[in-house]
Amino acid sequence: MRSALALVFVVLLADAPALAETPTALYSSHCATCHGADRFGGTGPALLPENLERLRGPQAIETIANGRAATQMPAFGEVLSRTDIAALVRHVTSPPEVAPVWGGAEMLASHHVAPGTPPEVPVHTAHPLHLFVVVESGDHHVTILDGDRFEPIARFASRYALHGGPKFSPDGRFVYFASRDGWITKYDLYGLKVVAEIRAGLNTRNLALSDDGKVVAVANYLPRTLVLLDAADLAPRRVLEVTEAGAETASRVSAVYQAAPRHSFIAALKDTAEIWEIPYAAADGAPVRRIAVAEPLDDFFFDTTYRRLVGSARTGSPVVIDLDTGQQVARLTTTGLPHLGSGISWPWQGRIVLATPNLRDAAINVIDTETWQLVRRIPTAGAGFFLRGHEASPYVWSDAFLSADRDTMQIIDTRSLEVVRTLRPEPGRTAAHVEFSHDGRHALVSIWEMDGAILVYDTATFEIVKRLPMVKPSGKYNVSNKIHLSAGTSH
Ligand code: HEC
Repeated sequence: MRSALALVFVVLLADAPALAETPTALYSSHCATCHGADRFGGTGPALLPENLERLRGPQAIETIANGRAATQMPAFGEVLSRTDIAALVRHVTSPPEVAPVWGGAEMLASHHVAPGTPPEVPVHTAHPLHLFVVVESGDHHVTILDGDRFEPIARFASRYALHGGPKFSPDGRFVYFASRDGWITKYDLYGLKVVAEIRAGLNTRNLALSDDGKVVAVANYLPRTLVLLDAADLAPRRVLEVTEAGAETASRVSAVYQAAPRHSFIAALKDTAEIWEIPYAAADGAPVRRIAVAEPLDDFFFDTTYRRLVGSARTGSPVVIDLDTGQQVARLTTTGLPHLGSGISWPWQGRIVLATPNLRDAAINVIDTETWQLVRRIPTAGAGFFLRGHEASPYVWSDAFLSADRDTMQIIDTRSLEVVRTLRPEPGRTAAHVEFSHDGRHALVSIWEMDGAILVYDTATFEIVKRLPMVKPSGKYNVSNKIHLSAGTSH
């Protein structure tokens, strides 16, 4: 009798898969150990819709079926049916049934400060202000590069998917990183160690550091908050719910910027027709200034005085806002979709011009920052993402990252406003993101491939002087250029 019953159970169990487990059950049994029962992440990254925006359906299926080589993400192709995998993709790209909570208590529980006292002098012999911080997006590592010898002095695992540029303390000693999943990491460039960490959100866009080096501001998509941290140890100071005056729902924060001359942060809001100006004193409770605009603005560029802001609008070309009066003072007459966040400026014929790469058009727009008129449209090899220059060099470098000619790099003369040279660093391989050395004598170009590299160019001869293998290097940041707010780089 017993064995007969057991047999019935065995048969039932064997039949169970036909009853199709729910996606929630599949997730709990196969994924939760690494990605968290709440999908907030663990050994693996967070699996929430906001975090997976860049991983489209087929790619998500591919990841789950085949896993990711050289990482802990296993292949489920032999374990789960295609239907189950598709159901799991729908599950992780849909909002959880209970809205995720990440407030002060959760932040505090994630806060960690490394024990011990940081060293008084660097533990390395490289010039601390000449260093480069290189983000290797292929395997989520950061390399610290000696900026004179172009040799790596440290390499460490970062949090998953660093987002937005890292920011440096005013003395150049510390660097702050934000990750896609909301982790803020403070790293000591003297001791070559992480000194503090906190998770400020579940999906984060970027961070900014006050020019006095005391407050870190974090722009979040999830939850819809702007978080202010103490820059010394990353302890939370204030969480601002980003709710429009009188509105019920909050807005995602697209990005936050430091506006040094104004002693404030400026935040771009995704879902609300407002710009927020957050005085540093807001960390102690001072009120936020809300500037009403005609429609939500994204992706900002500031003029050198930080009085004028250029923001891209959803409809039409970018608008110029006077931050003192809060009024719109101009609309740009550009073509395509300017990438304002990568805009740079330089003096030209007695005025300051702003040049922006173009996400849609094979052209660089050059705009007069007095009249906001287009002074030149420089045709390029293809739509690009980054533009970089340096005070000590007459040339700016532009990529064609978003086009078929993504293996080219073009050099523009800032005097004639013309392309003077086209480089093809490694034919067939994506060339992206240039950063100059502190003295402008070298330009570092990323070969954005898994078996990629950083190529060090001499900016006078355009010859490659060194090749450093790297795993899909994306951004690289020179300490000196960043802390001196070099006009040739974005901040
Ligand atoms: C043993 C730990 C582990 C398990 C179990 C696991 N994962 Fe992962 N998963 C990872 C890690 C680690 C990564 C990051 C890989 C990398 O560095 O690219 C990852 C990445 C992913 C990604 C890509 C995320 C992104 O942002 O690109 C998806 C999607 C994913 N996992 C889904 C799943 C699903 C669904 C399951 C269950 C069927 C699962 N994982 C089980 C560890 C795991």
